Amino acid sequence: MQDFPLRKIDHVRFFVGNARQSAFFYRNAFGFEVVAYAGLETRMKQEAGYVLRQGEITFVLTSPLNSAHPESQRLVTHGDGVMEIALDVPDVKVAYAEAIRRGAKGVFEPQALTDEQGTYERASILAYGDTAYSFVNRDRYHGTFAPGYLPIEPDRYSVKTARPVGLAAIDHLVANVEEGKMNEWVEFHQRVLGFQQLQHFDDKDISTEYSALMSKVVQNGTGRIKFPINEPAQGKRKSQIEEYLQYYGGPGVQHIALITGDIIKTVTALRDNDVSFLRVPQSYYDGLPARIGPIREDLAALAELGILVDKDDEGYMLQIFTKPVADRPTLFFEIIQRRGSKSFGKGNFKALFEAIEREQDKRGTL
Ligand code: FE2
Repeated sequence: MQDFPLRKIDHVRFFVGNARQSAFFYRNAFGFEVVAYAGLETRMKQEAGYVLRQGEITFVLTSPLNSAHPESQRLVTHGDGVMEIALDVPDVKVAYAEAIRRGAKGVFEPQALTDEQGTYERASILAYGDTAYSFVNRDRYHGTFAPGYLPIEPDRYSVKTARPVGLAAIDHLVANVEEGKMNEWVEFHQRVLGFQQLQHFDDKDISTEYSALMSKVVQNGTGRIKFPINEPAQGKRKSQIEEYLQYYGGPGVQHIALITGDIIKTVTALRDNDVSFLRVPQSYYDGLPARIGPIREDLAALAELGILVDKDDEGYMLQIFTKPVADRPTLFFEIIQRRGSKSFGKGNFKALFEAIEREQDKRGTL
């Protein structure tokens, strides 16, 4: 496996039915600041785009303005979802040529977009399903996001009224792929992007009474970019991964984990903003001190918010899942705080997946 020069996740682009209203949701519920806009007013003819930022996280929400938009069919197939994960690279042309040489399929070739703020470069390759990995470079660009996007008009979203909740960066981003395809996608990340496999969980690790899945985690050389990849495994009833594949209409991004330095404060703020989280039974907390050992957080506060705790050799982590953010049971978010732990514990899988199954049961899709 050859190294590949990826610096970090630059942004994640969502293709959504109504970017204006999604921007309102991510702003008012998740505490993002709306920093830039593209649309008819900025002479973008086919689509509208909103750029949202909190800490180092950048989300772009894109909606087509007419049915001639080349991606508009995505909305019928997937509903709202992640279309593109943009990776910051030192040289877009080199990264693209190297990825193609290693067998990746191109989506679009390197482009340099220029305005009075400088030059922004991008190219894109196909990942799982119709999700793309883009290579971007903004070393010579000084604008808010990219050519075509302008700072948001203050009368639309006042920066003064933004209420960040302490989300700092993307910790990991998870793909769901079809049964039997996980290893192919692990191999793709190793071969094309120089990732290494970090962890492996089989269906014995991740199963409940009803359903199972398998998961492998790949990460880049610096460990800054982590992509777990899940596939469904056989169980008595339908795996949550199968449910996702059915409703998303194929493989795609299942969840994005956002890191915070104070999960109690962040989750309290998100709940005050009406973000819905999965709940685990109170009994989860009974045996927790014995399983995890001493932790700095107040156990009663964690139990009140439904935050889970797991550990590995290096420390512990705190995590919680939101419910899906759209009507289809597809994309959701994880809020995570790491206290030394750099990996993914397996102690929480059962509790989390039983919580997901209670939701599946409500939907009649278990
Ligand atoms: Fe996760």
